[in-house]
Amino acid sequence: MFSRRLILMASMAKRFYCECKKNTKRSVAVIGAAGGVGQPLTLLLKLNPCIGELKVHDIVNVAGVGTDVSHIETASTVKHSTGKDLTETLKGGVDIIVVPAGSPRKPGQNREDLFNTNAQIAFDIAKAMAQHSPQSIILIITNPVNSLVPIVCEVLKSAGKLCPERVLGVSTLDSVRAATFIAEVACLDPKDVTVPLVGGHSAKTIVPLISKTHPQVCIEGEKLCNLIKRIKEAGDEVVKAKDGKGSATLSTAYAASRLVFAILRALNGESNIVESAFVKSDELPDVDYLATPLILGKNGVEKNLGIGKMSEYEQKLFCEAMTQLKKDIELGEKFATDQL
Ligand code: LMR
Repeated sequence: MFSRRLILMASMAKRFYCECKKNTKRSVAVIGAAGGVGQPLTLLLKLNPCIGELKVHDIVNVAGVGTDVSHIETASTVKHSTGKDLTETLKGGVDIIVVPAGSPRKPGQNREDLFNTNAQIAFDIAKAMAQHSPQSIILIITNPVNSLVPIVCEVLKSAGKLCPERVLGVSTLDSVRAATFIAEVACLDPKDVTVPLVGGHSAKTIVPLISKTHPQVCIEGEKLCNLIKRIKEAGDEVVKAKDGKGSATLSTAYAASRLVFAILRALNGESNIVESAFVKSDELPDVDYLATPLILGKNGVEKNLGIGKMSEYEQKLFCEAMTQLKKDIELGEKFATDQL
């Protein structure tokens, strides 16, 4: 169950930057740095004083991005590398690898439709990570997160390099959106709102636990149904608004940077840092991966806070989500097994 203290810890985790001593500066690699998410993410990471070395990679057009951000007057060095080979970026190991590489969706597509394009990309990157930087904390942004995180884990497992607590699917954007939309409905400041998110990262699998929102909100009936629908389908809202020019990039980059910064603070010894993410999980007997609130620590996930107690309505949504999530996970695992 989520205690009041944990909810407060989660809201404290929203604090952006950490204090950093020189000897605790970390290295972060962005794979897919020239893309719609990669570019603003690289910018946000360059602003964080806890990052000593920023390595940016993409298959094309990354020299401009790397050179551009390298002119910003923060102390981190920026190295860029291009092509299919990730050796240059990952050799010697980096602390955190963030992966936004791959294709975004177009109007009419859902995240699952990206599987055929992005599964192979995630597979190849996972092979390189297993070979060159198996100790990294790995954050997967590329969709469909529900299937690509299992692919990455299977590849690392087959190389004997899997540390499940170090592989996270980025679902932070769901928490970000939930806080924004709840604050709008309840007339609160979004920065004060924390809501646990469970399930996965797709319209059918995102389950916001509004009953556990801090501060408590009283939203019922049609208002509640509309709010939950909006949180679940917020990615579609952006795809529609962009009208053929892709999906959410700026808010995705912000959300991913929030998770990276939370991990940096945990790596640097801060305790009780809570964020939700999609990870390998023992929470349910028949679903191997699940998004839940997590306490972050020096090794990635220090403690899984689980799904907690849900309202009747949330339980119904959660059961529906699990039917889809199982299929998404199986799809990823099958792809990896067939390729290995
Ligand atoms: C989002 O939630 O906006 C991202 O996962 C991108 C998408 O395709 O919706």
